[in-house]
Amino acid sequence: MDEAMENNELEVVENEPLEVPSESHSDVITYDENEEYLLEVNHLKVYFDVLGGEVKAVDDVSFALKAGETMGIVGESGCGKTTTAFSINRLLPDNGHIKGGYIKYKGKKIAEPDPEITGLMKDRKKRKLYKEKEAMMAPIRWKEIAMIFQSAMNAFNPVHTIGAQIVEAIQAHEDVSEDEAMERARNLFKMVGLPPERVTGYPHEFSGGMRQRAMIAMALACNPSLLIADEPTTALDVIMQDRILAEIKRLQKKFGISMIIITHDVSVVAETADKIMVMYAGKMMEYGNISEVFHHPAHPYTIGLLGSFPSIKGEKKKLKSIPGSPPDLVNPPKGCRFHPRCKLAKPICMEEEPPIVELSDGHWAACHFAREIYSGELKEE
Ligand SMILES: Nc1ncnc2c1ncn2[C@@H]1O[C@H](COP(=O)(O)OP(=O)(O)OP(=O)(O)O)[C@@H](O)[C@H]1O
Ligand code: SF4
Ligand SMILES: [Mg+2]
Repeated sequence: MDEAMENNELEVVENEPLEVPSESHSDVITYDENEEYLLEVNHLKVYFDVLGGEVKAVDDVSFALKAGETMGIVGESGCGKTTTAFSINRLLPDNGHIKGGYIKYKGKKIAEPDPEITGLMKDRKKRKLYKEKEAMMAPIRWKEIAMIFQSAMNAFNPVHTIGAQIVEAIQAHEDVSEDEAMERARNLFKMVGLPPERVTGYPHEFSGGMRQRAMIAMALACNPSLLIADEPTTALDVIMQDRILAEIKRLQKKFGISMIIITHDVSVVAETADKIMVMYAGKMMEYGNISEVFHHPAHPYTIGLLGSFPSIKGEKKKLKSIPGSPPDLVNPPKGCRFHPRCKLAKPICMEEEPPIVELSDGHWAACHFAREIYSGELKEE
């Protein structure tokens, strides 16, 4: 893999000065530059070109993950969770591009703005170049960074058996015979609790839960260092959700894999993650250690979200929903993007983008009043 990454033209020289986009609302970096991280996402901006403008789907998001760590990304639908994930393993659709910041994996840059591929990709040459550059990520995809997709049904090709697709993924990265790869596919099936003989089945022959397990098997096929699980259990019933989640946790611990788990459901993060990033309208609202953020949330949006789910201690709590809905990301509101829904909003919130402030070691929140909320001085009525 390292060799493949060495050849990756997208990579640039290491140790260059950190580049902070000029319009960034903070020059703060939410990780320690002296630590070694598996993944560093620094002031990432990802926009989609659409008629009439740009969808600012991810707009200045920073976080970092150490080997073996799990981070949860939570936020309402459309806040940029999947776009963040797709930027990491470079699966963005043609009209999406990295507008600012960068992503480093094992200390090497794997994504940053590319002047040649920005703008609407109606131009065939541009599209070709984009596809070629994306193809260079193939050695990292699956082998190093695997993904459990939001919809397992769409993740498999319906015309090939699941076994054949796992074999293809293994053979794309390792020099093994078809028989060997198929034997590994059977073992992976066993490992995720599926009958190994079902490996010759087609995706449509599997139930939702079975397909999700097969997706996990496929994700683990090449022993990745990082697993991105995008809503891995949303389409399943509650019992199956718990089982699949337990399975993912078990396998992740067993193989020491780092994980990013993306979900609408804060209780899933509470059960699985070491840290959490709360996103709203493309922005990072709060970030930190799971127990810090759960016990001392400092952002009104996090407080709203936590109030919408049963408590971390498992007591039943009446579910609250946050009134209003997320903004249009082509023309997001000025100032704090959450201000139209925030009960604590003051005039400054409508004018100035809040800074990201550090409240305790590694706990950050993007709110003009984060310190007052954190200290308990300011509360919602
Ligand atoms: N190809 C695209 N072209 C234009 N806009 C897009 C495209 N893909 C996503 N978006 C927009 O980008 C924003 C972020 O989408 P994303 O899928 O990342 O959200 P999400 O947090 O994963 O939502 P969900 O919880 O529903 O999966 C949304 O406003 C979405 O409409
Ligand atoms: S900056 Fe203002 S509007 Fe935004 S979350 Fe904080 S109090 Fe609410
Ligand atoms: Mg999504």
